[in-house]
Amino acid sequence: MFMLVSFVSLFFVTLIFVLLFFIKLIQVNVSSLRFMKSNVIMMSCSVFFIYLFFSYFRARPHVQTQTSWNAPIMWELMFDNNLYDRKHKEANTTVALTVFAVGRYLEAYLKTFLTSAEEHFMLGLPVTYFVFTDLPEQVPEITLAPQRNIIIVKVEKHTRWQDISMMRMKTISEVIDTVLQHKFTYVFCFDVDQIFKGRFGSEALGESVALLHAHYYKLPKYRFTYDRNPESKAYMTEGDYYYHAAIFGGTCEKVKALADYCYVNIMEDKLKNVEALWHDESHLNKYFWLNKPTKLLSPEYCWDEYISNTEDILVKRLVWAPKDYEKLRTR
Ligand SMILES: *[C@@H]1O[C@H](CO)[C@@H](O)[C@H](O)[C@H]1NC(C)=O
Repeated sequence: MFMLVSFVSLFFVTLIFVLLFFIKLIQVNVSSLRFMKSNVIMMSCSVFFIYLFFSYFRARPHVQTQTSWNAPIMWELMFDNNLYDRKHKEANTTVALTVFAVGRYLEAYLKTFLTSAEEHFMLGLPVTYFVFTDLPEQVPEITLAPQRNIIIVKVEKHTRWQDISMMRMKTISEVIDTVLQHKFTYVFCFDVDQIFKGRFGSEALGESVALLHAHYYKLPKYRFTYDRNPESKAYMTEGDYYYHAAIFGGTCEKVKALADYCYVNIMEDKLKNVEALWHDESHLNKYFWLNKPTKLLSPEYCWDEYISNTEDILVKRLVWAPKDYEKLRTR
């Protein structure tokens, strides 16, 4: 409502100045200095309001679109899809996507994740999915578009889901070292319990990419659930944002640095018998506090449909799949 009122009033102010300017222009008298001066003022005002009008019209005035260190925050309307796609096609960009489907997560989520990714993830670019699972024979057959591949890697199953989620960092680091780094420009790491719903395209690619957590992007910093235990390596007292570990990406080099950092610190915690509040996510938040990401994805890139206030979400590009922790995490 507020947005509409301010938009309409801005529109009329701009219109009035433009009209006034043209009225002046018609009766301009070159020999009169007085007229010249008022024309210049009128023109400056018009240009100023036209500028305001268009910046208002194009941008996203109610969300933050840039960080204090000048990294863009990707919100719908802030970028041109075609420009990004053309740039990445010309550069022969290749993308690796890693996803872990261990235990019952495979049966519950993998098929929907992969089929929806084929409809929305980096269309037009060569993409290879790396599926890490303890049940390779149960990975469903998916029809893939040309230039898209799937590679299945067997991993061992840890009994606690917290360990599965933490050992992920070690596996990611290893696969970057052994396979990815010479073949792929970028690597993106995804949780499997998500469904693509809209374009998740080349605009999301960058050197070091973090995702704003849908539950925290609007909250004041003191509400962020950083690890507050000084015994843990993930301990932090202040930060920039609360990032969601469901998606992170970047160049192979940067993602490997992130994964190594998290893995080493998780192991140091384990030696002290400490576990960070939100496991690998706590360590990831610490890493991105010390090593600022070069691009942030807005919660449009990973939305929780249970959040009722959707006024900032113009496109749902990916949503959380409905969760059933009781069934998935026991057994
Ligand atoms: C991309 O690939 C094409 C065809 O292989 C090649 O001609 C072109 O030079 C490559 N472009 C870049 C930027 O590497």
